[in-house]
Amino acid sequence: MPSLQKFVTSLLLAGSVLGAQVTAKQFSHHDEKITPKVFIVSMFEPEAKAWWNIPEFNLLAHNITIPGLSPLYPDIHCTEDHEVCQLITGESEINAAATVNTVAFSPVFDLKKTYFLVAGIAGVSPKRATLGSATFARYAVQVALQYQIDIRELPSNYSTSYIPYGRVFPGKYPTTIYGTEVFEVNAALRTVAANFARQATLADSATAQAYRAHYGNGTGEYKAATLAPGIVECDTATSDVYYSGNLLATAFENTSKLLTNGTGDYCSSAQEDNATLEVLLRAASHELADFARIIVMRTASDFDRPYPGASAAYNLLLANQGGFEPALENIYRAGIKVVQGILNDWNTTFAEGVKPTNYIGDIFGTLGGEPDFGPGTAQALAGSGAYKKRSLEGRSRRRG
Ligand SMILES: *[C@@H]1O[C@H](CO)[C@@H](O)[C@H](O)[C@H]1NC(C)=O
Ligand SMILES: *[C@@H]1O[C@H](CO)[C@@H](O)[C@H](O)[C@H]1NC(C)=O
Ligand SMILES: *[C@@H]1O[C@H](CO)[C@@H](O)[C@H](O)[C@H]1NC(C)=O
Ligand SMILES: *[C@@H]1O[C@H](CO)[C@@H](O)[C@H](O)[C@H]1NC(C)=O
Ligand SMILES: *[C@@H]1O[C@H](CO)[C@@H](O)[C@H](O)[C@H]1NC(C)=O
Ligand SMILES: *[C@@H]1O[C@H](CO)[C@@H](O)[C@H](O)[C@H]1NC(C)=O
Ligand SMILES: *[C@@H]1O[C@H](CO)[C@@H](O)[C@H](O)[C@H]1NC(C)=O
Repeated sequence: MPSLQKFVTSLLLAGSVLGAQVTAKQFSHHDEKITPKVFIVSMFEPEAKAWWNIPEFNLLAHNITIPGLSPLYPDIHCTEDHEVCQLITGESEINAAATVNTVAFSPVFDLKKTYFLVAGIAGVSPKRATLGSATFARYAVQVALQYQIDIRELPSNYSTSYIPYGRVFPGKYPTTIYGTEVFEVNAALRTVAANFARQATLADSATAQAYRAHYGNGTGEYKAATLAPGIVECDTATSDVYYSGNLLATAFENTSKLLTNGTGDYCSSAQEDNATLEVLLRAASHELADFARIIVMRTASDFDRPYPGASAAYNLLLANQGGFEPALENIYRAGIKVVQGILNDWNTTFAEGVKPTNYIGDIFGTLGGEPDFGPGTAQALAGSGAYKKRSLEGRSRRRG
């Protein structure tokens, strides 16, 4: 029965959009598009399940199959009244882009007023937060979008093996631009969401407590790592490569600062957000979504670098840091406050929207306005190769 109903639902949804007659009485309201108030973006099953079997709402009331979703996660899940829905991207940038693209451009949904809550786990910098913390980003930076030489073949005076596109040395703003390097979301909404989340009591674990104690006595640069889980407003890095260790973490922390012209405050690393944001940007540029309604929340499952005296390999591959379970639990505990906050204040605040006061969008200024990072719209477009201006030299080092 569930699978048949799923099939019928999707047929009827597709049919209604194509103008076919919807005869089944129980689906008659699907003549209209589904207009969720909140779309939860999960990346894999453990993150998705954090929202299932909760007292506040039942996301499994409707399963909607849409061609183009991940073969692992072929359904969108929605509550009975379709006010809250969930998509599961599948992990990494390719899956995130493909899945969110399917939803953002699907005729089944009207997402013009929908809030997207990216809610996943992530690596975390011990300089900014600790295991179990929930972080809310303003910037998402695609840090590994660079040249790379294996460290064993690297000139000895290079600080890192990652070199920005179009450059000869690390640490220079890239001159070859792809457009997904940096996304900036609504900072005012970020603060509203973080304040909702601050009402939550976050979960922790004894193993996480023991692991974070290795990061010092709370006086040094890893003070944040030694504290109990909390809510932190800081930025996220996207990389398909699951990097770890002092050198790579510092290199990408540097990249985040560089690409955001010094304003980015790197704290979390995950594998999807810039892909998700690129798709929502494309949808927003055709008025199919509102780029001012995106919240990027990442809860900390593991430290991106070891504690003093431990090796990078131990931290990444061997240690049981104890952050995975509390991070998953805190997706729900912090995230539910955000979802409820939006639903409760819908008529007074969120239907109208929270006006951004910062620049929002990409490095090209696709949604209007002038980015507060990057070389400026004209130069970024020139660096993209969209104009014939691009040099032969630049071209010879492109693979796209
Ligand atoms: C939706 O799918 C989930 C599993 O992914 C299942 O547990 C649930 O029963 C399904 N709901 C309906 C209404 O079929
Ligand atoms: C990725 O998105 C974040 C916003 O969440 C933005 O700060 C960052 O600059 C983006 N990075 C890239 C490379 O697109
Ligand atoms: C590294 O050394 C080379 C000479 O071997 C020099 O040309 C280059 O400027 C140096 N690079 C950096 C990043 O200091
Ligand atoms: C904390 O540790 C640092 C070195 O790791 C040390 O210099 C300092 O005295 C310690 N502080 C306390 C209060 O123990
Ligand atoms: C990061 O930047 C700092 C300050 O510019 C520099 O000293 C350090 O070598 C950089 N680290 C890496 C790994 O690139
Ligand atoms: C919000 O507005 C809708 C439609 O105008 C109305 O049906 C609903 O009762 C209102 N909700 C609250 C909480 O006031
Ligand atoms: C960002 O920094 C680059 C150099 O790193 C500079 O060329 C550019 O003008 C700066 N952009 C803004 C918006 O400040």
